[in-house]
Amino acid sequence: MLRRLLPLMLVLMTCSVTAQTQNSKMNAFVADLMKKMTLDEKIGQLNLLTDGGGVPTGSVVNTNVEAKIKEGKVGGLFGITGVEKIRRAQEIAVTGSRLKIPLIFGLDIIHGYRTTLPIPLAMASSWDMKLIEKSARTASLEATADGLNWAYSPMVDIARDPRWGRVAEGSGEDPYLGSLIAKAMVKGYQGNDLADKTTLMACVKHYALYGAAEAGRDYNTTDMSRIRMYESYFPPYKAAVEAGAGSIMSSFNEIDGIPATANKWLMTDVLRKQWGFTGFVVTDYTSINEMIDHGLGDLQTVSALALKAGIDMDMVGEGFLSTLKKSLQEGKVTQKEIDDACKRILEAKYKLGLFDDPFRYCDLNRAKTEINSADKKAVTRELAIHSQVLLKNDNNILPLKKSGTIALVGPMANNKDMLGTWAVGGIPANAVPIMDGIRNAVGSSVNIIYAKGANIADDPALARNAQVFGKKFDIGSPQAQLEEAVQAANKADIIVAVVGESSEMTGEAASRSDITLPESQRNLLEALAKTGKPLVVVLMTGRPLAIVRESELANALLLSWFGGDETGNAVADVLFGAYNPSGKLTMTFPRNVGQVPIYYSHKKTGRPQGDGPTQKFRSNYLDVSNDPLYVFGHGLSYTSFSYSDVKLSSNKMAKGQTVKASVTVTNSGNFDGEEVVQLYINDPVASVTQPVKKLVGFQKIMLKKGESREISFNITEEELKFYNNDLKRIVEPGEFHVFIGTSSSNAKKASFNLQ
Ligand code: NOJ
Repeated sequence: MLRRLLPLMLVLMTCSVTAQTQNSKMNAFVADLMKKMTLDEKIGQLNLLTDGGGVPTGSVVNTNVEAKIKEGKVGGLFGITGVEKIRRAQEIAVTGSRLKIPLIFGLDIIHGYRTTLPIPLAMASSWDMKLIEKSARTASLEATADGLNWAYSPMVDIARDPRWGRVAEGSGEDPYLGSLIAKAMVKGYQGNDLADKTTLMACVKHYALYGAAEAGRDYNTTDMSRIRMYESYFPPYKAAVEAGAGSIMSSFNEIDGIPATANKWLMTDVLRKQWGFTGFVVTDYTSINEMIDHGLGDLQTVSALALKAGIDMDMVGEGFLSTLKKSLQEGKVTQKEIDDACKRILEAKYKLGLFDDPFRYCDLNRAKTEINSADKKAVTRELAIHSQVLLKNDNNILPLKKSGTIALVGPMANNKDMLGTWAVGGIPANAVPIMDGIRNAVGSSVNIIYAKGANIADDPALARNAQVFGKKFDIGSPQAQLEEAVQAANKADIIVAVVGESSEMTGEAASRSDITLPESQRNLLEALAKTGKPLVVVLMTGRPLAIVRESELANALLLSWFGGDETGNAVADVLFGAYNPSGKLTMTFPRNVGQVPIYYSHKKTGRPQGDGPTQKFRSNYLDVSNDPLYVFGHGLSYTSFSYSDVKLSSNKMAKGQTVKASVTVTNSGNFDGEEVVQLYINDPVASVTQPVKKLVGFQKIMLKKGESREISFNITEEELKFYNNDLKRIVEPGEFHVFIGTSSSNAKKASFNLQ
């Protein structure tokens, strides 16, 4: 045994010796450089500026950027894209400033770069970690070819409130799945070597709890118990740290009454001491300055608080630049605090290889071959087909036949607004509208009659608010459009209606208090259903919507999300059966906004409603059931999968042992297809109340029609642990329930005892 392990041990030892040597080289280099730096130059490294070239997400944009770079007052830039521009800015730093320290260049590379991939919430629906890693790798290849070396991604905020527009940027409601996705993304961006000229440094955001903004209103207060933080909201950030993420971004919200940006417990005790994070922390856009509005004091005070909490870099606000020297002189911050922050930023630049070659990401040849290349297009289509979720398919109306007449209607059926939020580097002209995708798929074998049918929104205020970054839709006469669509439907064999939100109705600063479809689109679906023609609804959105009525009207309902450049082709792939859908929801669809926040892993109450009619003095509503419209983990296929009962290797688990849980899954339908087999656990009696179910494992499998396969999971004590009141992860003996199935509500159950 030992003889077999020896070579592996030698490799591991060599790796760790190499890492140590690299670290000591880096430490010596940085220490040497810092000896030469003045206090002003050190503070300069903590300053991150934008020239306003990207999407300014606040009211401040920096000025005199060039002069500041020359004076050594800038550590990095963001919002600039393109090799030539970045090269020029870097030249100013490495030829014009006294110590020639290179800049770091960041951008919101959230779902792809020039080639836009599906929004993150869509990609999460694939439950395919290899594919998700590939998405980050694809973005890295393009962005590093365009001069960039730092991505403000992954966004790993757990989100259980679809009113919050930023749910589109994350992975949904579940900490287990969210953690796996966080790791896959970090790995995809950073690879094994940050100095490789095709890898980006990841910036995990928004640390922490930003997804729990009260009332789903962006930038609002958060407040939650520590147990919930550790159990449900912290795991993805921690997973990203464990995966080696080079940087983290602080969030705008407060935690326990202290904004994250000044929260020493969060930034130092949890992040560095408990999780061992060694990278650097950057603020969000002007979040130091915003603490003045939070009521924490003037700019000098809040800047000192941020530095002392453990923040290293100040995004846009220049609070560090303008006040830290004074704070040092007045004894409000220490030299060590400034040095530590400066050291971490220089280390990041060292790891990125910028001191060896400040222009390593500025290779014009790579830009020509990598950006928008055919392989990137193929990846975005692959991701887009795997991201779609078939919510409903009565009488197997889908897939469609390539014959007859289709009425293709709806405001999203023939527009290019399908890149979704945060497509800063995206090229809207490259987007393939659904109409083009369908035409590409069916050629002349299908007669297509197109009618827009409705406005995205009739309400001028909503329309204005949803078009801040440029006009994306017109408002025409709702009645005339509706009539045209009904005429088209009457001439057709089947209706495909593409409805939903515009991309700017989701994302940052795009909270909605009403998450139904806008009225014009609701009316359109009612009128179409009245024609009696089969109705297929394709839903393009960046959040779960309250669509009870629409889901009744539709015979089939396909959730396409915002699928990126290739949305049209990918939707056609699914509609006509070139790909059998396999996506599963990672965020619950509520029946109405009153049920929000709603998520599958809720706690029990002392007065459960139970099955059956609404009862008085039970936890329920008078006007709606407790159940959501579509549960976490739900997603249909063109085939059907049947599950055997759960078989356990034993009904007892001894301490330190495992129990194997197995099911046989059979593809009992008429198509080959993929299924996500999901494993949930419940601890029915514990010293701290436990969720009714929590996801602890899943496997995505491919089964040919008629094929059966046994799928097994090894359950260890790790899956049974929870945080107690002292925030220790413990496991308690007793009974455990195991659920394996096709969604969080459709699963077979078995039980065992932990001794
Ligand atoms: C504000 C957003 O909250 C954050 O996600 C983004 O990375 C920064 N602006 C930079 O654009």
